Amino acid sequence: MATLRELNILFERVRREGAGKALRLTSGHVGSLARSLIEDIRRGVSTTREVRDEELGFRDRQNHAYVATDYEIFRKAIRSIDIRAGEDVFVDFGSGKGRPVLLAAEYPFRRVIGVEYSKQLHDAACQNLRLSKRLVCQDVELVHADAGEWAIPPDATVLFFFNPFEGQVLAKVCDNIRASIAAAPRRITIIYVRADKFFEREIDWAEWLVKAHDFPCSDGLVAIYHNRPLA
Ligand SMILES: C[S@@+](CC[C@H](N)C(=O)[O-])C[C@H]1O[C@@H](n2cnc3c(N)ncnc32)[C@H](O)[C@@H]1O
Repeated sequence: MATLRELNILFERVRREGAGKALRLTSGHVGSLARSLIEDIRRGVSTTREVRDEELGFRDRQNHAYVATDYEIFRKAIRSIDIRAGEDVFVDFGSGKGRPVLLAAEYPFRRVIGVEYSKQLHDAACQNLRLSKRLVCQDVELVHADAGEWAIPPDATVLFFFNPFEGQVLAKVCDNIRASIAAAPRRITIIYVRADKFFEREIDWAEWLVKAHDFPCSDGLVAIYHNRPLA
């Protein structure tokens, strides 16, 4: 339950960040927006406001704009995988203002990394990291880079995506993951929020991944995959 103080802050934030949007949304989305704002307030961070591509200066529509993963969806997904405490390394490709990075750091990952293309969002994530109150994992790195050009660390094992890009960028990142596994064989888990949108349509994922399970989210599918052993 939210406290009176949290509710006051919530109303102020809805007024500032989301009132116009809330009026246009269905009750399910309003619930998600309210939950997001309350969870942000509890952590002392600000990850909720969406940022459109014009505001980010994105001209290439392959790179998608900023919308944060719903807190509940993230929790449901992360609880559905086995985390090897002190071993697994989490990476969010297109980490935005840092919500999944900060949430992952509440679990016993050895390391947590976020890679973000927009300097504006990267700076917001760095600020959120400084403010965040709940981290269990203290080794958190935020990288300002194009995910397609970023060298995947050989110990990265839990790879998170919330529909960050499509087309050549997505293909390049998938090639990089396959090359990384070939160079440093290991078991990886991919958590993909909105896998139905581009990933499952554009990538021959079944050649190298096995779907462990999936579940519906508000406007699509969350899917969890593991890599097939290399031949
Ligand atoms: C749908 S948002 C997801 C944000 C965050 N992962 C979350 O779940 O809260 C997609 C993010 O991917 C970022 N992005 C788009 N293209 C990118 C690229 N080529 N490299 C890195 N980040 C990118 C966007 O700036 C945006 O922050």
